[in-house]
Amino acid sequence: MTAETVTPPHFCAAHLLGSWDEHHPQRAFIELAGQNAPNRPDGTLVVARREEMTEFLRHPAVHATDGVNYHMGAQRPLIPLDLDGEAHRKYRKLLDPLFTPKRVARLEATIRARTNALIDVFADNGKAELMLGLCAPLPAHIFIDLLGLPTDDLPIFLEFKEAVVRPQGATVDEQQANMLAAGERTYDYLARVLDERRAGPPRDDLIGGFLTVEMDGGRLTDQEIIDICYLLVIAGLDTVTCSLSCMIAWFAEHPAERRRVLAGPELLGKAIEELMRYESPVPLGHRWVTEDIEVHGRHFPAGSKVEVVWAAANVDPDTFPDPLTVDFDRPHNAHVGFAAGPHRCLGSNLARLELRVALEEFHRRIPEYKITPGEDVVYTNYGVRAAIHLPITFPAG
Ligand code: HEM
Repeated sequence: MTAETVTPPHFCAAHLLGSWDEHHPQRAFIELAGQNAPNRPDGTLVVARREEMTEFLRHPAVHATDGVNYHMGAQRPLIPLDLDGEAHRKYRKLLDPLFTPKRVARLEATIRARTNALIDVFADNGKAELMLGLCAPLPAHIFIDLLGLPTDDLPIFLEFKEAVVRPQGATVDEQQANMLAAGERTYDYLARVLDERRAGPPRDDLIGGFLTVEMDGGRLTDQEIIDICYLLVIAGLDTVTCSLSCMIAWFAEHPAERRRVLAGPELLGKAIEELMRYESPVPLGHRWVTEDIEVHGRHFPAGSKVEVVWAAANVDPDTFPDPLTVDFDRPHNAHVGFAAGPHRCLGSNLARLELRVALEEFHRRIPEYKITPGEDVVYTNYGVRAAIHLPITFPAG
């Protein structure tokens, strides 16, 4: 990750507000949630309230793409994110069983071992840059294990997801071109992997499963497998990296709450959910309205593009009393950090497992830590919110 990424102007409606603050964007998100039927100067409508959002996302006339532009540098619809209706349901039926809590629990020992191997590298130093040392490599290692790819491909993976999620370039057009080029490299890489896998013996990993699974009485085509894996690589790496970085940064700056979790480890699950709400690492998504509809008393004309701001709904005071307080004991925490509606995150169980195990091991090995004196955490909110520079200091050994 680099701090030099050029941020295009106003990636989110909250980013247009005077209250925007890169370090603490939550205030701007509350302001956005308080606006009646907000929209952006270019006519994009904005959904920022928690209750309206739930109803809007479940409406059958609300689609995830306009059928022309696809997510994250893809040239074809990503499966299942860029599909709607029956086609979407069909693939979710195939994919959901692969990511149940029971199924992902098989990865727990690997995640623990990978986390410890990364911590071993810096544990004796007394300080570390945790984005580079832990948050970025850990989910990439897990994905390589999950898909069954060689560990040596780790740098290739990190390059793809970085170039797609935070494309470099001096202008938005240049960034778009760089993102498409990175997407092209991802397609080529995955096509090569599939050729190799078809030529080799069957293996018990995710790609091995995709090569043998049947849907509608037939096998998945290479193109379908590539379109699924492309999305998994992009959706599953950066999101966990960024969420973990935000959580560790928060714990570093809130030692009393960290010690509460250390003293009562059963609190960690609730702490993760509350920090998912408060930090909202994926700030927004987009939807397109295919016919005139009324939702929660608001009119959405056919053809509207809509910015759905999960981060605003997560601090909507009508749903979350005192939303700026991080309260691990919050009684009802129906956050939308993993979105809502048909496209709700496929990998939330895996993400929760990775975050829990990584924090358990990190806190076991390094219970006392703080942001390195004289340095600052650097946040980006573009694409996915992350602590892109996370320097910490701790008692060595
Ligand atoms: C803390 C980590 C994560 C966060 C915050 C997160 C967040 C999200 C959000 C907000 C969406 C909805 C996007 C939209 O509708 O525009 C989504 C969808 C998705 N996520 Fe995650 N995600 C995380 C981890 C993962 C992981 C580990 C995987 C890999 C298995 C994954 C796979 C997916 C897929 C495949 C979709 C599309 C689902 C569909 O269209 O039906 N995510 N995620």
